Order: sequence, then structure tokens, then C-alpha cells
Amino acid sequence: MNPHLRDVAIPNDWDRRGLPGWSYHSDALLELEKEHVFRNHWQIVGHVCDIPNAGDYLTMDVVGERALIVRGKDGVVRGFNNMCRHRGSRVVADSQGHCKNALVCPFHGWVYNLDGTLRGAARPRSFPDLDKTEFGLMPLDLEVWMGFIFIRFRNGGPQPPVAELMKPIEPEFAHYEAADMVPSWGIWNQKTPVNWKSVRDVDNEGYHVAMAHPALQDLYGATYFDEPFINGVSRSFATYNPHAGRRWSVKNYVKIAPEPTRLPDYLKKAWVYYGIFPNAVISVMPESVQFYQEFPLSTGETLLRGAIYRYRDESREQAAARYLSFRIDRDTMSEDVQLSVWSNESMLSEAFEGFYLSDLEYGVRTHHDHLRKMLPVLGLETAPEEKDMWNLNDALRSRS
Ligand code: FES
Ligand SMILES: [Fe+2]
Repeated sequence: MNPHLRDVAIPNDWDRRGLPGWSYHSDALLELEKEHVFRNHWQIVGHVCDIPNAGDYLTMDVVGERALIVRGKDGVVRGFNNMCRHRGSRVVADSQGHCKNALVCPFHGWVYNLDGTLRGAARPRSFPDLDKTEFGLMPLDLEVWMGFIFIRFRNGGPQPPVAELMKPIEPEFAHYEAADMVPSWGIWNQKTPVNWKSVRDVDNEGYHVAMAHPALQDLYGATYFDEPFINGVSRSFATYNPHAGRRWSVKNYVKIAPEPTRLPDYLKKAWVYYGIFPNAVISVMPESVQFYQEFPLSTGETLLRGAIYRYRDESREQAAARYLSFRIDRDTMSEDVQLSVWSNESMLSEAFEGFYLSDLEYGVRTHHDHLRKMLPVLGLETAPEEKDMWNLNDALRSRS
């Protein structure tokens, strides 16, 4: 079978410059990104198996917003702002945990039911007019797709429902039966000292694999190709060489990885990466499924976050293969971090004149194009005044 899902012709003549350098260091632009890119686009919080029981919860902070995902007594997974309606405290403080019957705010003790409704205020007689129905936790848009929990801080938004967004990859991804998986080692977080777009720029192309990722090159080298972002979703595909093995982890991985019975032939040795605009990837290997994403903490600092999931009935060989693929990935990620630092810091130099992208980096361009659509101010080569950024962007948006 042709491993291409969508044949995309790269135009002969395209603008090979990336986003302007100033956009990686502008505080005013970051405010626009929060507004038009992060709050109103779907974000992955985790997987339903991270909160298997009633009362289990996950939290996630994104650009000043705080999400709380709780499984109710009825088994339903719901999303709320992690914000007490009394004075705004976090209702739960941990990134993951379990509460028995209710969520009790740590500030003054207001109690919420697991479905987000307010059970009661502490010392209720001090609120003679409190209408409890008015003070439930504020719900977030939430959608579960193939086991992954997506939320959106702003109701509505420029993207369609997740199920529709992911339609192009759904038939392929469905083979992995991800909804039935369980956590491997939990959700991880790591800070990196670059703009979030520099992380994404490195991840959105495979041109650098041959030079920068010796283990990946050994593993799947020449088979790798990218399909750029179309309507918010990209795909990269590679199949590993069963005879690879110059590196210890690669040699053992290809030796140990068992024949995955649930996958069709063309996926049996495939590593596939599905990019989801603006900032996430779900990737599959025959023995595991994972997600990773990045959130800006400031213009020069980014939070990387992700998790790996495994089959409930995994064999010892699958477990060993999962561990080895994790090691290959871990090395790859630290190589990528270094590359993103070097690229990002160049944008503070007067000598930086923009990117000059290869046809093999067309995915970077298409991601930038998606950003330009939300933030037309990115079309300006010279940095606007920080104080003008917001109005200028609004004016350009209303023109387009
Ligand atoms: S802020 Fe939650 S009870 Fe006061
Ligand atoms: Fe990379």
C-alpha cells in the first residue's frame, strides 16, 4: 500500500523565508498568540486512561489559563476552569490525583460535586443570597478522540470539532486502538529555554534527521517523508529497517520488536507522527502511542509536555521495544532541544536574515502559514512597535 495519505504537490516557487525573526522575541506578539492561537485552539490534556476512576483528575496550565479534567461518578470525563467561583483559587493544586466524593477548594472550603456543580459554600449562612446553581465550576469545551482528551479554553474557536479535524488520519490511527491503552510512565514536563515556535520549527521537518539524529537515521533513514499541514493536520511517516543497528538501542529495538498483529502490513514497522496545529503531535509506533506538545511560558521559555501509552495486554517483547523506542526518542529530543536553542538565539542577532527553507522543510512553511492566517502581523518583515501590535493585527485581520 502507498504509505502516503495525502499526496501534496510542493509548489515550484514558494516563499522560503520563515517567520520574521522579531516574532520569536516579541512580548506583544506572544499576547496575540495567547489570544488567537492558544486559548481558542484544541489542546491535548491527556488520555482517558490517565483518569480511569470516578474522582480522578488531571490539571494543565496554558498561557495563564488553568484546566481541570475530572471523571464524574457517572464515568463521564468533564473539563472545567480550575478556578474556584468564590475567589479564584485553584480548586485542586496537583497536576494529577484523586478526590473521593467532591472537590474541596483549599482556600475557604467551598465544595463542588464531581460534575462541577456547587454542593455548598463553607459557613453558608454568611452568604444569605447565594444561588448555588449560579456558581458551578465554569465548563470548558471538551472532546475525547480515540482516548485522547482535548479541551479548548474559549468556547467555539476557528477549528472544527476534533473528530472532524482528525478525520483525514482517523482510519489509519484507528488501527492502533489507542482508546484502550494504558499509561506507560505518566505525563512528563520539561522546560526549554527557547520560543515555542522554535521547538515546533525543528519538529516540523525531517530534513535535519540525517545530520542531527544518528539513531533515527540508523533506524529509518531514507524512508522518512513529511506531508505538510493541511487544515491543521500534518503527517510524517517512516518505516524502520529490520537490519538497522549501528546504535545499541536501535540494534536491540529492531531485534526485539515483535510482529504487531493488530496492524496492517504497511504499518507493521512504521513510526508515524501526526502534527496538530498549533502545538501538538500524536505519534505512533507499533508498540506504543504518545503525545507531546509545547506551551509558551514567556517569549524565551517553553514548557514541553507529553506522555506515552502502551497496550494493556502488552508482551514482554513489546514492553522491551517500548523502552528502547523511548530511549531513541529521548536522545532525539535532547538533540532537537540543542538545535532549537541555536536557531532561536540567532534571531536576536543583527546578522539574522530569515530562513531559507528546502522543499523538505515545506511543513515548516505550512505551519507558519496557519499562524499567519491567525496573526497577519507575522507578514511584516520589520517589527512593528510593541504598543501597536494588537491594533495592527486587528486591522490586518479585518482586511483579510
Ligand atoms: S477561593 Fe475557593 S473557597 Fe474561597
Ligand atoms: Fe528532530
